[in-house]
Amino acid sequence: MEQGWPPARPEVESLHAYSAPLEGRRQLLRLDFNENTIGPSPKVVEALRSIPADHIAIYPEYDGLREAVVANLGLPLDPQQIGLFNGVDAAIHAVFHAYGDRGETLLTTTPTFGYYTPCAQMQGMAIEAVPYEGERFAFPLEALQHRLRDLQPRLLLICNPNNPTGTRLAPELILELAASAPNTLVVVDELYEAFTGDSVMPLTDFNATPNLLVLRSLAKTAGLAGLRIGFAIGHQAVVDRISRVTGPYDINSFAVTAAFAALKDQAYVDGYVAEVMRARAWMAQQLQAAGVRHHVDGGNYLLIWPNQDPAQLDAALREAGILVRAMGGKPLIDGSLRVSIGTTDQMRQFWAAYARLEGLSA
Ligand SMILES: Cc1ncc(COP(=O)(O)O)c(C=O)c1O
Repeated sequence: MEQGWPPARPEVESLHAYSAPLEGRRQLLRLDFNENTIGPSPKVVEALRSIPADHIAIYPEYDGLREAVVANLGLPLDPQQIGLFNGVDAAIHAVFHAYGDRGETLLTTTPTFGYYTPCAQMQGMAIEAVPYEGERFAFPLEALQHRLRDLQPRLLLICNPNNPTGTRLAPELILELAASAPNTLVVVDELYEAFTGDSVMPLTDFNATPNLLVLRSLAKTAGLAGLRIGFAIGHQAVVDRISRVTGPYDINSFAVTAAFAALKDQAYVDGYVAEVMRARAWMAQQLQAAGVRHHVDGGNYLLIWPNQDPAQLDAALREAGILVRAMGGKPLIDGSLRVSIGTTDQMRQFWAAYARLEGLSA
């Protein structure tokens, strides 16, 4: 106890925790975290309002929720193949907790979602991150296949489509990767799959491919980010192992009630996704016409390279009531801003401010 308090594990002492600027966002146009920008279905709000006071006093119950997820997915899955988590963040944490050990390797891509790295580090894992390729940030399939074969990593994490590049990998190729590495748990983070439709799940028999695990969330499309609920879907034994390292009541009752209502109202989510797709096309058109360097692929976000210092523009946009995410320090996309896509009206508001601050004609 040299420094006056008990040291944590060495991996934790040297850890840089995942941190995101999360305060003071409520009154602003939030295009910084790829959230749903209009809120969940009114039926979700109604269900939450109807929670009787005494239900708050008792521990949450999860009966029927796995079945509701299966029904929503419309796939021939057993409810035991659905793991329930306090957001996909908690599912990711549980995967590393259950499978990642000191000296083992996480294979992934770069740049990608920022939470994989601290989860690997807290387990003492080595990280091998293969860069996306070229101007279009193509998926580095061959390089990844080589590393997979040479390193035989414990975990392979693929974000599909990738946050923040939007890069997509065909589900057939994901299945091939999994089949080629039966000792590696291949985790496919499908948080933004609704915007591309290329899920690996309809093609997967988890009994034949038990080393594949898919992550889905109600945060981004269904608009439940504030309630925290996500799912891990895979072979029953794998789902059981990652569920073992979570607490018995990690998902609260509000999230459960909201999830039932959201899963029942798929039409609302489909309508929101369709609006985001329209807004994304409109936004891409404006950027194209104005000659602004940008990159748009899968997901409810795109990358823009401003002419001025991105940190300065980020701050000026905030002054104008709009939040975006500067990608400073991220490999390959340093100098860009990641802009989440909301409704067309919201993108018009963003574009008016952006064009003004960059001296473009909107
Ligand atoms: C790729 C990716 N995975 C997982 C998460 C976390 O999802 P959740 O809100 O369900 O924890 C995010 C959130 O930004 C994400 O972008």
